[in-house]
Amino acid sequence: MLIAIPNVLTPEQVGQARAALDAADWVDGKGTAGFQSAKVKDNAQLPENHPVAQELGQMILQALSRNLLFMSAALPSRILPPMFNRYAGGQHFGAHVDNAIRLVPGTGQRLRTDLSCTLFFAEPDEYDGGELVIEDLFGTQQVKLPAGHMVLYPSSSLHHVRPVTRGARVSSFFWVQSMIRDDAQRRILFDMDMAIVRLNQDVPDHQGVLSLTNSYHNLLRLWADV
Ligand code: NI
Repeated sequence: MLIAIPNVLTPEQVGQARAALDAADWVDGKGTAGFQSAKVKDNAQLPENHPVAQELGQMILQALSRNLLFMSAALPSRILPPMFNRYAGGQHFGAHVDNAIRLVPGTGQRLRTDLSCTLFFAEPDEYDGGELVIEDLFGTQQVKLPAGHMVLYPSSSLHHVRPVTRGARVSSFFWVQSMIRDDAQRRILFDMDMAIVRLNQDVPDHQGVLSLTNSYHNLLRLWADV
């Protein structure tokens, strides 16, 4: 399932983040790429331990912890600290897969990448190209979202970033290990949760809302690794 999460950050947060990101010293993005993806990766990145990356990463994680759509769609168990990249002057990232397992920096802990996230920090009209192209079960999808919005997609998907031919594409990217490893099961839970939310708004006292909520939690109990 590919889902856009609107307004993860406020325009004020995006503005402050952009000022800090635009002033930061970027390094070659190949440093954090795996063997296969290093061959096709051409962008700039903030070093993981850069103070701007750490400060903005905390801001993103705090915002996500309060975002009901993200929590429902991702059912996160662990989230890798957000990283930041920048594409300009024709830079791109060719077709690749994301590594299945990553080390959480400074902890020695492993994280299974179930979901990939890209949070946009540049408005679509600031740059040409730069679409995130994702191949999933339903075909190829192109993603280019307003600043402050985020896309969440299965890390199992082949994907690439088209060359940026004007301006700069600035974004944050990171991975989520979900309590629900299987994308199809996670999708069922998400659809069910959204249906319960709608029913709660329209017919809050209906007995079926309680039954469905019970079933939701029983499925979560059956499938979740915590
Ligand atoms: Ni990738």
